[in-house]
Amino acid sequence: RTLSGDAFPLTPNPHPATDTERAALMTDPVFGKVFTDHMARATWSGGSWGDRGVVPLEPIPMHPGAAVLHYSQQVFEGLKAYRHADGSIHLFRPTMNAERMIDSAYRLAMPPLPVDDFLAACAALVQADQRWVPEADGAALYLRPYLMATETSLLVQPSDTYDLVVTASPVGAYMGGGGGVSIWVSRGYHRANDGGTGEAKTGGNYAASMLPQQQAKENGCGQVLFLDAKEDRYVEELGGMNLMVVLGDGSVATPRLSGTILPGITRDSVMTLLADAGRPVRERDIEIDEIREGVASGAIVELFAVGTAAVVTPIGELRSDDFALTVGDGKAGPVGSWVKKELTDIQYGRTADDHGWLIRV
Ligand code: COI
Repeated sequence: RTLSGDAFPLTPNPHPATDTERAALMTDPVFGKVFTDHMARATWSGGSWGDRGVVPLEPIPMHPGAAVLHYSQQVFEGLKAYRHADGSIHLFRPTMNAERMIDSAYRLAMPPLPVDDFLAACAALVQADQRWVPEADGAALYLRPYLMATETSLLVQPSDTYDLVVTASPVGAYMGGGGGVSIWVSRGYHRANDGGTGEAKTGGNYAASMLPQQQAKENGCGQVLFLDAKEDRYVEELGGMNLMVVLGDGSVATPRLSGTILPGITRDSVMTLLADAGRPVRERDIEIDEIREGVASGAIVELFAVGTAAVVTPIGELRSDDFALTVGDGKAGPVGSWVKKELTDIQYGRTADDHGWLIRV
């Protein structure tokens, strides 16, 4: 199946990056710091979506009273376009992102963007900026679709106008740089609570993670791990990725989707690939004490983070105020390495896409 971007007609950028400029920008880009020549956009007003198009990337003029600037009525997504050896470009499970953005929008009382519009916007942008899709293994074009409230109003109520924007960034690894990342277990600060917005992909959840993420960094760690807000006892997710735990008996576990955890698409894909290989992943409550004691005793042999940006990143160390533990030998373990290879082989077209996860653009 090939996606059409026809619903988002192109207004070409009159001053695109030259090939030399683009090549320099695409050499080992910092995640999310480099943007392509165009962006996709649409607007919601009068009760429907319109004004669809792909236009030159430029600042978005906004009234200082725009609702999103005050009360953060916003949702976003993250997905990647991969270049295969034959030059063709493919999106990985984009329909799941489209559906998740509808769920997130519902929680933020925002209008849903139809799945077909989401897919067409992504396809049109990738087609317009296809020369920005990297060829290097491990690199991809990261798409960032988002919806935001644009009504000029300081009333705390849903906006009556919204913008859809999709940007594209050539990216490599989000973190880890090949080795294991150190994780800081946040005590006292939480990301989400029951009935809150934890399972929606909204900027506010990430805003809540900034201070604990900064503390992680101050303590020499690359990522923060959040515990549940009710009991400060069960592991939930990292600052922007889900967590997988490999036990000494070879079984794999991951925190269940309790309503406070983002239902990750990489999480689901990794669970599917492991189940296919006869290693079903148990979704359950996992106490931080189980992880701490398990890592110390060897009953837990591997931890890894999974996400669109993070792909599969091994966790080499676990730290908090009162402990510091090396996970296994501190490097990538066999289960994480295996599933990373399986997943990326599908994404880059090196193996059969038996699940039909790729859509060509
Ligand atoms: C993603 O993995 O796409 C995310 O949105 C997470 C963010 C930390 C980049």
